[in-house]
Amino acid sequence: MESLEEKIKQAGDLKTLETVRIEIFGKKGVLAAEFAKMKEVPNAEKKAFAQKLNITKAKLTELFDTKKMMLEAEAIQEMMAKDGVDVSMYHGKPVSGALHPVVETMNRIIDYFVALNFSVEEGPLVEDDFHNFEALNLPKHHPARDMQDTFYLNDGMVLRTHTSPVQIRTMQKSKPPVRMISPGSVFRRDFDLTHTPMFHQVEGLMVDASGKISFANLKWILEDFLKYMFGDVKVRFRPSFFPFTEPSTEVDISCIFCKGEGCRVCSKTGWLEVLGSGMVDPNVFKAVGYEDVSGYAFGLGVERFAMLIHQIGDLRSLFEGDVRLLEQFR
Ligand code: DAH
Repeated sequence: MESLEEKIKQAGDLKTLETVRIEIFGKKGVLAAEFAKMKEVPNAEKKAFAQKLNITKAKLTELFDTKKMMLEAEAIQEMMAKDGVDVSMYHGKPVSGALHPVVETMNRIIDYFVALNFSVEEGPLVEDDFHNFEALNLPKHHPARDMQDTFYLNDGMVLRTHTSPVQIRTMQKSKPPVRMISPGSVFRRDFDLTHTPMFHQVEGLMVDASGKISFANLKWILEDFLKYMFGDVKVRFRPSFFPFTEPSTEVDISCIFCKGEGCRVCSKTGWLEVLGSGMVDPNVFKAVGYEDVSGYAFGLGVERFAMLIHQIGDLRSLFEGDVRLLEQFR
């Protein structure tokens, strides 16, 4: 009896205690063997014998239950100490987060146009051929389709290569006049210093009754917008080609690094190309059933703006999530 109590007390962990339990309380254990001796005890002593044995069993059981509870509590403590968070490891200085430079630049662009009452429209990232190409005056097999390194999906759908399809969707769902921008991500099969497979654009579209919107309106708003974004810069409109505009123009600003003197960033030209635009091609209006209207459109790459504003050399670094870069924008 003494030695059994001792065995329970000595058990240092739950596994040892289980072995002890089987030894004492098991079917072939010490207590079972003691109870079996009843047969040989003379009848007159049977009662006293059984009583004594029951008391011993009760004592051992209580001792065992208490020990088990203690060991279980210890095991839980140990587990928590190992997995737990040490709340005493207080850092002292709370670190504040910040918007990603692309988001911040996009918000600034949106703010400008919202202040001029442009609506902000969104469209699907998985586009059909009609909205991404056809309605934008890019018929099948048109060579200009190669300008965009498209990701094609199995069912004839594409990952949109630009935000221009949102022009189409917006005109389809509303009557003129239209005054909208559409910010969002776009996708192209391209990867180098200045290209990533996913990037962001902001599209703009202004449409009203024929003759109401002219190239002069386009020129004014883009000049004003680019000065808002880049400060005191010169703005230049260069003839260009986009299937969805006629005439088309690419817009440059005087280099913000060398003030137009010519440097590495502007390839010694003194100018930086920042967006594409033009007067909406009549074929685009035809595709959405608009008649007797005129309008302008433009599209810009948000990363290009962010890189120029923050002097970031490698576009890919914007998407690597390296906190050492991101912390500089707090
Ligand atoms: N969608 C063109 C691109 O991704 C950008 C663009 C150019 C949009 C001229 C326009 C525009 O709306 O008028 O390269």
